Amino acid sequence: MVIFITGISSGFGLETARVLSQEGHAVYGTVRRDVAPLPQVKYLRLDVRDAKAVQQAVQQIIEAESRIDVLVNNAGMGIGGPLEFATEEEIREQMDANFMGLVHCVDAVLPYMRKQGSGKIIALSSIGGLMGLPFQGFYSASKFAIEGYCEALRLETKPFGITVTVIRPGDFSTGFTDSRKKATNDEAFRAYPAYQKAIEKVEHDETGGLKPQIVAHKISKVVRMKHPRYGYVVSSFEQRLSVFLKQILPAKWFAAILGKYYNSK
Ligand SMILES: NC(=O)c1ccc[n+]([C@@H]2O[C@H](COP(=O)([O-])OP(=O)(O)OC[C@H]3O[C@@H](n4cnc5c(N)ncnc54)[C@H](OP(=O)(O)O)[C@@H]3O)[C@@H](O)[C@H]2O)c1
Repeated sequence: MVIFITGISSGFGLETARVLSQEGHAVYGTVRRDVAPLPQVKYLRLDVRDAKAVQQAVQQIIEAESRIDVLVNNAGMGIGGPLEFATEEEIREQMDANFMGLVHCVDAVLPYMRKQGSGKIIALSSIGGLMGLPFQGFYSASKFAIEGYCEALRLETKPFGITVTVIRPGDFSTGFTDSRKKATNDEAFRAYPAYQKAIEKVEHDETGGLKPQIVAHKISKVVRMKHPRYGYVVSSFEQRLSVFLKQILPAKWFAAILGKYYNSK
């Protein structure tokens, strides 16, 4: 299959490109910087916020392969801090990279997938796309946007034989933690005493989190499935439980549990 993956310089993208190329697929992956290349993988240099660059990259794939079977929309980043202290620029980067990046990639591949009468769109959401995480509010907002968009996309593209799947990882140990852009000004810590503890907890959970290969193998499974499910939570048991509790508990109870979790060591 011909597979287009965004953000393969590290983490899930890197491991997914590795697994899928080893399985014999034609893998095209995007990077923004020089990386040690994986054998068999073809690299495209772009920032997903640039719609034109994404269109050109997909055009390049079509010229070489005449088709595109799978989009794995993985590229993303996070900002951290009290919502009140995020700057307009930071918020735009968050939404542009995570949400508009997906829109750019989907817009670029859809005309070809519709014409083929087949295709798979796999989007990296997050457990944070199912619940608003304190001090990662704009990150959550970008993933909630992905969830709403993909739910609609799934219905619109079904008649063309295209499937849409969202992968919702919990905490994983990747480059994501180090590249998070955090509010570091004293005022943010002074005004929100809970911020320090919460961000330490988040980073502790991520760095001690699961290995990104688990997500890569889940994506490879979805690629192989004829009828993949719409959504998969890939996480520890506790995090899967939190998703379940969010669905069944009154909002007030769930908020109390989540608040307590991020306010404890
Ligand atoms: N790690 C977790 O615990 C976790 C949990 C849930 C969901 N996720 C999601 O999983 C996806 C992958 O994250 P990861 O954990 O593998 O983190 P990662 O190791 O930091 O990888 C992120 C990748 O996205 C690329 N990227 C970021 N912004 C980009 C942009 N504007 N244009 C093009 N590429 C861009 C990065 O490229 P550079 O190297 O150039 O920055 C990198 O290749 C993200 O969508 C993230 O939100 C992660």
